[in-house]
Amino acid sequence: MSPERVLICQNRTCKKQGADKVLAAFQASPVPGVTVVASSCLRHCGSGPMVLVEPGDVWYCRVRPDEVTAVVERHLKNGVPVKGMLFHPPHP
Ligand code: FES
Repeated sequence: MSPERVLICQNRTCKKQGADKVLAAFQASPVPGVTVVASSCLRHCGSGPMVLVEPGDVWYCRVRPDEVTAVVERHLKNGVPVKGMLFHPPHP
């Protein structure tokens, strides 16, 4: 599935953890066909900054601005999620 949207949580907890800089890093590296969205809470507060790639529900946690290039190059451009950074939400 090729990525179409990347959501970066900008709610309080993630913001305290640097989510605004992560959002800025994604905005600085636009990928054709992929929309960067400043999102409200993604319901995994405390593991942030949280990033969600859709479709396919691929999650990244504790994303640092210097890690954004890896997500952009490998996942958004080439469709290969960055394994070491993935977050697996607990099943309900
Ligand atoms: S504040 Fe970011 S997931 Fe809730």
